Amino acid sequence: MPKISTKGLAMPESPIRKLVPYAEKAIKKGKTIYHLNIGQPDIKTPLVALEAVKRHSLEILAYSRSEGSEAYRIKLANYYKQKNISVGPDDIIVTTGGSEALLFAFGSIMDADDEIIIPEPFYANYNGFSTASGVKIVPVISKIETNFALPPIEEFEKLITPKTKAILICNPGNPTGYLYSKEELEKLAALVIKHDLFLLADEVYREFVYDGHVHHSIMQEEALHEHAIMIDSVSKRYSMCGARVGCLVSRNKKVIQTALKFAQARLSPPTFAQIASEAALDTPQSYFDEVIEEYVDRRNKLIQELESIKGVKVAKPKGAFYCVAELPVKNADHFAQWLLEHFDLNGETVMVAPAAGFYSSPNVGLNQIRIAYVLNKKSLKKAVNILKEALKTYKY
Ligand SMILES: Cc1ncc(COP(=O)(O)O)c(C=O)c1O
Repeated sequence: MPKISTKGLAMPESPIRKLVPYAEKAIKKGKTIYHLNIGQPDIKTPLVALEAVKRHSLEILAYSRSEGSEAYRIKLANYYKQKNISVGPDDIIVTTGGSEALLFAFGSIMDADDEIIIPEPFYANYNGFSTASGVKIVPVISKIETNFALPPIEEFEKLITPKTKAILICNPGNPTGYLYSKEELEKLAALVIKHDLFLLADEVYREFVYDGHVHHSIMQEEALHEHAIMIDSVSKRYSMCGARVGCLVSRNKKVIQTALKFAQARLSPPTFAQIASEAALDTPQSYFDEVIEEYVDRRNKLIQELESIKGVKVAKPKGAFYCVAELPVKNADHFAQWLLEHFDLNGETVMVAPAAGFYSSPNVGLNQIRIAYVLNKKSLKKAVNILKEALKTYKY
């Protein structure tokens, strides 16, 4: 039989999706599952976006420009200005989700065997993107005890080698919900300038910031003009995960010229979805106010319930809609599978994401899970109660 590539074999399975077959079996057996494992928000997509697609007058669903429609990029630049991020339409390449922006960024700045330093736990698909690009992730461990704050900058510096090309942060963080402070960003800025590295920031959860905190973008750091690359997406901001629209933003012209070549090779981002994304920029502030209020309520309820379970430690998120919890179990992978295969409370169980897949260091986070609070408060309360009862029964 013809052989699969080494790279193909090395591609990691998604820790979020690998339990799906067990979930399907549980559903076939008649169990109801509360999904705490995936970041698919239950929030409604803004009507302006959906209406724009319904009202379109296209006769040919043609390719758009490789860098994305000009009208959309002009409006996007305007949106960024309102966020105190001063970029023009030419600093933006529209991509098929933030996922493709990450792939373009990796491809534009790193060669095979180059290294990128990332605080862990991190968004698990960074592992997939790095394998696909042939680059090596060098992790710096952040700790639940500090709510997953930026590890000391010396820890990053120790890891810099001649192969290091970039540092990547996710702000606010998936899976940690941590929001980096201006001081933390300034420390990172000084480090990347000192060692002439790129600083990539995945800011797809920018809007989801709680308790009066302010989101600071790496694009606001003047000194990072040539160093900063921002990854963005409409997926979470407007609950438009299926639109598949994101973007790569940088003031570094060479980065944009290079990323554009990757964009040209795949021809164009999706045309209909750009129409929806452009219209979504007219979403009224009241939509976000309501969404944020809902997430804050959910987070508070979730943390309160989790903290009431004996032996559970949880980091309080300041943003995004995830949290990492440490459980009184040895192996959260086994526990998550057991929940689906062998446990139910009145016919109901929960699906969680074992957190080990969000680390690239071996044997770290084995007793942690990531919880996405994308369910309404009633379901969330039920789900945590199931978790609580399951932990009483689980004996491994
Ligand atoms: C941190 C982070 N970055 C990027 C993405 C990619 O999202 P998309 O490709 O839908 O824009 C996600 C999706 O969950 C994410 O959580």
